[in-house]
This record gives sequence, structure tokens and C-alpha cells, in this order.
Amino acid sequence: HKNGLQIAIDGPASAGKSTVAKLIAKKFSYVYCDTGAMYRSVTLKAMRNNIPLTDEARIMKMMKHTDISFAPGKPQQKVFIDGHEVTNAIRSEAVTNSVSTVAALLDVRKDLSNRQREIAENGGIVMDGRDIGTTVLPHAEVKIFLVASVQERAKRRFKDNAQKGIHTPIKKLAHEIEVRDYKDSHRKISPLTQAKDAIRIDTTHVSIQGVVDKIAEIIDKKLK
Ligand code: CDP
Ligand code: CDP
Repeated sequence: HKNGLQIAIDGPASAGKSTVAKLIAKKFSYVYCDTGAMYRSVTLKAMRNNIPLTDEARIMKMMKHTDISFAPGKPQQKVFIDGHEVTNAIRSEAVTNSVSTVAALLDVRKDLSNRQREIAENGGIVMDGRDIGTTVLPHAEVKIFLVASVQERAKRRFKDNAQKGIHTPIKKLAHEIEVRDYKDSHRKISPLTQAKDAIRIDTTHVSIQGVVDKIAEIIDKKLK
């Protein structure tokens, strides 16, 4: 591709995808695209408009005039729906626990997958999600599948929450993660699953830098 490789990073909730994807993008001067933020944005807008999250017809009607965009920001990329910032709003517990319902809808997935392919078409991109290596970018040059134990992932989310002043017990977070993983892995359309040609990295006992180094090594080999 004109601007570089396509790098797909998939895996279950809180495996470290976005943290690692951002660092890889920075290291190679690639663009980072958080596809989870797009599913979260559709969910938030539907909730704000009181549209039932299983009403695909109404959600699709809404999506026809829904713009989702990103802008650089620290510590995380800014996310906008129709020009209004929703960076924090899309991470609320309500959205987190409802997004899998919206993400199971066929036409929503088709629409967002097309937007994602457009963003990635010239390469030079690190895209994280659930179905990037399997469905969105099946020809990506680098495919990574990140996993970690549920206990470890709940601990990570607990720490993230604590920094925001949220104190949901680890046990509850572990349960919520399991429910979301189950829904994401068992939906009919492009479920969360490892692509045949993806490299699996278990991050349970590996630091962020350790994971970044491993992926950078894989990318360097492809670039040679
Ligand atoms: O960051 P976290 O692991 O909590 O999730 P996310 O990447 O923000 O994704 C939120 C939800 O969007 C997932 O649980 C999936 O239901 C959905 N999603 C998806 O179906 N396909 C993608 N490519 C990305 C996210
Ligand atoms: O995007 P995803 O939901 O897969 O996970 P994330 O939001 O990138 O990572 C969840 C938390 O785990 C973050 O606070 C990371 O700093 C942390 N993390 C870690 O402690 N060790 C790793 N190897 C990767 C991530």
C-alpha cells in the first residue's frame, strides 16, 4: 500500500489492544484507528435518541446521517459524533455493557466495516478491534491476536477505573468482561475469533513494552 502496511490487532476486551496499537502506530508513524470506538459511538447515539438497541431499521436510518471522526489527543485520541466530542461518553459503563448488542447487527457491521476499509485502504495503519484480521482487512500484512486471562484483564480495567474515580469491584468487572466476550464470540456475523494467519500473543504476564517489542519485531521482518 502507498503509505505502508496494514496492521490488524484483534482480541477480547481489555487484552491491551488499544494501548499497544497506539504505541505501534507512534513507533512506525502510522495512523491508529480504534474500531471499538465506532461501535461505541453508534451505541451512544442510539441510546441518546431512545432507539431500542435491537431496532436495526431505526439504527440504520440514524447511521445514514451519522458522522464518526477522530482527532489526535492525549492521553487518548478524541472521538466525535457529528462534530460533538464523545471521547469519555462512549466509555461509560452503560455504553460498555450495551455495545455488544449493537455490534451483533448485520447492517451496522457492514456499514462500519466499509468505513474502516476506507480508512485503511492506503495502508500505514494500525487498526484494533474484534474482526479486523478476519473480515475488515483479510489481507492485512500483519495480524496480531492479543489475549490475557480474565482475572488479569479485570485487574487492568479495575486500575483504569480507579484513575477515573470509579470503583466497581474486580469480580463484577470480570463478570462483565466474560459476558461481553461471550456475546462477541458467539454472534452470527463476524464473531471474535483468531484469523488463521494471525500471531497469538498471551499478554497475561507480559508488560506493555514487552508486547510492543514483540509486535515491532514482527513488523520489522515484514518491512525487510
Ligand atoms: O476497549 P474494549 O476492549 O472495552 O472494547 P472496544 O474495543 O472499545 O469494543 C467495544 C465493543 O465493540 C466490543 O465488545 C464489540 O462488541 C464491539 N466491536 C466489534 O464488534 N468489532 C470491532 N471490530 C470492534 C469492536
Ligand atoms: O483495548 P483493550 O480493551 O484490549 O485494552 P486496553 O484498554 O489497551 O488495555 C487495558 C489496560 O491494560 C490498560 O490500562 C493498559 O495499560 C493495561 N495493559 C497492561 O497492563 N499490560 C499489557 N501488556 C497491556 C495492557
